[in-house]
Amino acid sequence: MGEREALPIIIKGLKRLEYRGYDSAGVALLDKEGLSIYKKKGKVSELENHLAKFGDLGSKIGIGHTRWATHGEPNDVNAHPHYSSNEKFAMIHNGIIENYDVLKTDLIKKGYEFRSETDSEVFIKFIEDVYVNNYCSLEEAVRLALHKVVGAYAIVIMNLEEPDTLIAARKGSPLVIGVGEDEYFLASDATPIIEYTNQVVYLDDYEIAVIRNNKLQIKTIENVETNPYINQLEMELEAIEKGGYEHFMLKEINEQPRSIADCMRGRLDAKNGRLVLGGLRDYLNKFQNAERIIITACGTSWHAGLVAEYLFEEFARIPVEVEYASEFRYRNPVISEKDFVIAISQSGETADTLAAIELAKSKGATIFGVCNVVGSSIARATHAGSYTHAGPEIGVASTKAFTAQISVLAMMALKLGYQRGTISEARYMHLLAELETIPSKVERALKLNDKIKEIAWEYKDSRNFLYLGRGYNFPVALEGALKLKEISYIHAEGYPAAEMKHGPIALIDQEMPVVFIATKDSSYEKVVSNIQEVKARKGRIIAVVTEGDTTVKHMADHTIEIPETEEAFVPLLSVIPLQQLSYHIAVMRGCNVDQPRNLAKSVTVE
Ligand code: F6R
Repeated sequence: MGEREALPIIIKGLKRLEYRGYDSAGVALLDKEGLSIYKKKGKVSELENHLAKFGDLGSKIGIGHTRWATHGEPNDVNAHPHYSSNEKFAMIHNGIIENYDVLKTDLIKKGYEFRSETDSEVFIKFIEDVYVNNYCSLEEAVRLALHKVVGAYAIVIMNLEEPDTLIAARKGSPLVIGVGEDEYFLASDATPIIEYTNQVVYLDDYEIAVIRNNKLQIKTIENVETNPYINQLEMELEAIEKGGYEHFMLKEINEQPRSIADCMRGRLDAKNGRLVLGGLRDYLNKFQNAERIIITACGTSWHAGLVAEYLFEEFARIPVEVEYASEFRYRNPVISEKDFVIAISQSGETADTLAAIELAKSKGATIFGVCNVVGSSIARATHAGSYTHAGPEIGVASTKAFTAQISVLAMMALKLGYQRGTISEARYMHLLAELETIPSKVERALKLNDKIKEIAWEYKDSRNFLYLGRGYNFPVALEGALKLKEISYIHAEGYPAAEMKHGPIALIDQEMPVVFIATKDSSYEKVVSNIQEVKARKGRIIAVVTEGDTTVKHMADHTIEIPETEEAFVPLLSVIPLQQLSYHIAVMRGCNVDQPRNLAKSVTVE
């Protein structure tokens, strides 16, 4: 809200946020008709076409939403915003209301009718009911209603009768408020805001923001006023644009030499043997005496966690457990005050990871975060941490965040190992120097793109893929398979290469492409034997090998040579061709690479 036309800003903002959900979209505006809602199934561009039919929709205030369906299929009716019954309020909502069923039954008894199948419509009608019954202001009704609502939400409400007011609240889902000159912008993350202002306030859980007559007031749901803290955003506008690339994913794959360097900048100075992780400073001594490290994350971040397990155990000699956050949080895990939990999350908003943190925190563990999004919920819920500084990742399939996460975790493991004396000074110095060469080696690995494109063409119609690796390359095999399935919809499985003979070997025939990560490391000979086992069964072999390898070349149908590095850092290089392979196959199959079906970038629901 402010003096500008709201609609173009909202549409642009929704496009920037579309990576978070893209099954339907809608806006509410105060136009000549009053409080009007326009919604459409599909992408924001469909909504834009729909809006074009209405001519000038002048409004200086408005709200908009892109949806990732939780309750009810993606269609026009289930899209947000949702009206109250009297059509005076319009609301957008991210998150899930867990007790919506009970609330809905109650509201139906009172005569409320529902147009959609969403929990969000129940939410706004519940607020309306509180408003009607308490003869109070909308702001007060929101506050009272939030005490009864169970679940996660970030909401923004417009009110026909208060055309200069927006009410917002959050619990568990992110909400950022951009503070411009006589104008305000609210969004799930800072990407739609940065174009207009770099001053932002991150709303906290259980806070309600009211923007009225150009003034921002924040209160807790207990009605206690808080002082909004204004943060300076450091994000650049170019970072969230495609910059000439056909897809964000391709841009982000190619950005990795820089994103890894950015992640190490100011932290790693190999020449002087310096490794500084400022965010952990106050906890390093305690960390040194950790009895156990528990790593928790989801998806690709969980794969980075698996790499970290090898790193911490090798360099710091501390036992590590890697947990899916979604399992960990519901398993009544054994956690003590001596445990260190590292939560890894690109978005910093993943609901399961956040819940796992809260659980571990309640048992007294110390929690570190490895997040990409500055100021995100996970970054703020942890005791300490290190940002990955990879820059905004917009493609839904994670690429540069993964390598940045591994870079940060490698630095943590080295720092800890050095402090604990579990790596010698000489080895430490050597490893630091090697880590510093990674960005230029990634640059070299990226040059294999054309060759990988040719391989992609040959296998683009395959129905299944197997990815095999051992040691540090086992998590890379999992990651390669995940990348392929999420963007090309080809079924793919990642396995530790030696496990193949315990089951998956039955799948191998001339129709089955098998991607081996067979770099020159401690398990090389063993992987070569596994390659032979696949070859004997006529599987098609694509092998990622170390530059100069000749053994595998004679066995594989295709080899992709990546630069040599320390075994512990190989994942930073071996994952690159796998990202490129999945990207090209998906493009050749005509898939929407940046917005694969059913996926959302930031999974703020459990
Ligand atoms: C895969 C992917 C997801 C995420 C997962 C966790 O390409 O992007 O598997 O890694 O949803 O997300 P963050 O890291 O934001 O917690």
